[in-house]
Amino acid sequence: MARDESWLTEVQVCPSILAADFGAFRSQVVELMDAGARTFHVDVMDGHFVPVITFGHEVVEAIADEVHSRGGALAVHMMVQEPERLAADYAKAGADSFTIHIEATRDIHRALQIVEELGMVPGVTLNPATPVAAIAEAARYARNLLCMSVSPGWGGQAFIGATLERLPQIRALAGAGVGVEVDGGIGPDTIVGVYEAGANRLTAGSAIYRQPDPGQAYADLVERVRAAGATIA
Ligand code: DX5
Ligand code: ZN
Repeated sequence: MARDESWLTEVQVCPSILAADFGAFRSQVVELMDAGARTFHVDVMDGHFVPVITFGHEVVEAIADEVHSRGGALAVHMMVQEPERLAADYAKAGADSFTIHIEATRDIHRALQIVEELGMVPGVTLNPATPVAAIAEAARYARNLLCMSVSPGWGGQAFIGATLERLPQIRALAGAGVGVEVDGGIGPDTIVGVYEAGANRLTAGSAIYRQPDPGQAYADLVERVRAAGATIA
């Protein structure tokens, strides 16, 4: 049975677990679900496409039951060379979407097809200096379009202002049922701007998990987007 994909196109603030305590993923996910979060962003880095190594599908497996049992979803961001090689592991572990860098694969059409066939939502993303036109064709086959607003590889970087010019172009590529996600440097000062520029899933790592009270930090971000006119469940 096809999974519910409404989370893709809702306005949501999505915690990135890259900024969480790696020794306490599960409890940090529970804490944010208690505060209202539903979709979690999962950053997989391979030490090749980006210099850093994070974690693999086991982390998805460790939190998937908790997230799914409360109506949530796991959006996996693969900062990995040819990530389609690993797609089956993530599908099995419980990933809901699997987003691939246009710079990281030789055949994005085939890669997205593999993801679709495994029952995950296919997503495509691009680095800040890659022209948006590079994903124009791939966008036909993807249901998550992720706009990087920092260079992939690290949390806690400064938001790149040109994102506000790129997001409307990416939104224009998104048909019905396709979500637009933004990732990097999202916090109290930038979250309303990216929402107004066309993103509906607003991913934040440091601005949530590196705060004294992550649940409260999440709620404050949600409030800002609501004040800008968004409906957030
Ligand atoms: C960066 C990652 C982001 C990261 C964002 O390579 O893709 O998902 O968690 O972190 P912040 O919100 O701290 O910029
Ligand atoms: Zn990410």
